[in-house]
Amino acid sequence: MQYTTLLIVTLTSSCLSIVSGARIIAMFPYIGKSHFDVFEPFVKELAARGHQVVVLSHFPQKQPITNYTDISLVGSITTEARDRIDLGRISGTEILKTAVKEIRGIFESCDRMLSFQKVQDLFQSQETFDLIITETFLADCFLPLVHKFKAPHVAISSSIMFPWSNDRMGNPDNPSYIPTQGTYFSDKMSFIQRLINVIANTALKFIFSATESTVIAGYVRKHFGDDVPSPSDIARNTSLLLVNTHFSLNGPRPLVPGIVEVGGLHIRPPKKLPKDLEDYLNGAEHGVIYFSMGSMIRAETLPEDKRDAFLQAFSELPQRVLWKWEGDTLPGQPKNVKIAKWLPQFDILNHPNVRVFVGHGGLLGSIEAVYAGVPMVGIPMFGDQPTNIRAIVNCKMGVKIDYNEISKESVLKALRTLLDQPSYRENAKRMSKIYLDRPMSAMNTAIFWTEYIIRHRGAPHLRPAILDLAWYQYLLLDILAAFLVSIITIVFLIYVITKKLAKMFTLHHRKKSKQS
Ligand SMILES: *[C@@H]1O[C@H](CO)[C@@H](O)[C@H](O)[C@H]1NC(C)=O
Ligand SMILES: *[C@@H]1O[C@H](CO)[C@@H](O)[C@H](O)[C@H]1NC(C)=O
Repeated sequence: MQYTTLLIVTLTSSCLSIVSGARIIAMFPYIGKSHFDVFEPFVKELAARGHQVVVLSHFPQKQPITNYTDISLVGSITTEARDRIDLGRISGTEILKTAVKEIRGIFESCDRMLSFQKVQDLFQSQETFDLIITETFLADCFLPLVHKFKAPHVAISSSIMFPWSNDRMGNPDNPSYIPTQGTYFSDKMSFIQRLINVIANTALKFIFSATESTVIAGYVRKHFGDDVPSPSDIARNTSLLLVNTHFSLNGPRPLVPGIVEVGGLHIRPPKKLPKDLEDYLNGAEHGVIYFSMGSMIRAETLPEDKRDAFLQAFSELPQRVLWKWEGDTLPGQPKNVKIAKWLPQFDILNHPNVRVFVGHGGLLGSIEAVYAGVPMVGIPMFGDQPTNIRAIVNCKMGVKIDYNEISKESVLKALRTLLDQPSYRENAKRMSKIYLDRPMSAMNTAIFWTEYIIRHRGAPHLRPAILDLAWYQYLLLDILAAFLVSIITIVFLIYVITKKLAKMFTLHHRKKSKQS
């Protein structure tokens, strides 16, 4: 008994001694702030737990943090064009154009970031690390650094998983019931939807791997030379993928042990509200509608007719409205609407008087609504927003308005539905309970698995053998071929033998008939 205890203590402490004070480098080259909002609490927590963390990003800390070192990418690429999205320009095909422009911008930024002196210095440096963390969203041009430092690699996704991440981790993603990111289907698809889902899944993977093997690989060779393995080969050595989803909200699906869901990683306990906001929310007899289009989209650039549609709808409701509005004034502002350039969203959503959240369905905001149990009106624009809103609508805790269908009537109808039908609020509260009911918080889960990878030096035992199979082996085409060959051989043999026998029989018969 005592021996066992002693053994356990020794084992535990020897595990811990390997784990505390690991040297970790985290690389987040994508410039979107909403992505960094997910990663920042995670890397800060790693530092707080005694690891030495080096963070390459566009968002250096304003106050120095112990055990946290920044490698700032500020100045490597221009940000003003990509900072904020103008709502006025987004309509129909413009969304597609914005997406294409965005993706091209990301590729070009890859080239510029790799030539940035600090990145080059890092590539030449003699530093060693025990772990490398990268984000999955288009950070592939930084993967040669993973190869250089020869340390276990943890990837983290701030959104739902991309189709190609499945292939890299050896994870099944059968499109018969797993909707592909970008299709916006639920997990119950009609024939046509499944057809589209299969095409979308295949096409996205093909486009991605074609881009990677040409554009990205080109930049990699240009900046790191010809000896570096291709980013997709390096990515297939990823030990762990942390994904900002949870099956309760995003739907159940199979995951290999190397993929761990950490939905809600960015959530921290709600803080006390500033006095004026607290008073405003407390004094709302009929409750409050909270309206924000997130940090990337400027509400200020909302076209006039759409803005007026919201204002007219709001003015007909008894609720107070809190609107995150970047302008100094809001033309035609009704008495029950209060504007502010910045609002502590999560703390507001946790106030008991908040009845509805009107937003664009960014993943962080959607998770915050689920966490706080607040029904949502979603106006998705692009990226993963339609998928997130789809999940909210599927859980029956919200409704969707198409951006092009914003009118006083549609806004009023959506708001009245959520305000008047108690089922939405009940479902939101129920979703909140389910979302929070886990063996460990999202943060503790992420830290546990990250340290697990350090403790077990990349944990190669997590890696499914599928990653070493050729595609035809995975699809069992070679087995199928063997079956076919056997069947054909057998059929052929039977045919030949029967023919022979028939011939012999006929000959025999003829002889007999001649004789008689
Ligand atoms: C910094 O890391 C060292 C070990 O690497 C640890 O002893 C120390 O407590 C850490 N400091 C903080 C403030 O976390
Ligand atoms: C992947 O990991 C294996 C085993 O550690 C190693 O031999 C191989 O070189 C790695 N591949 C790449 C492309 O880094």
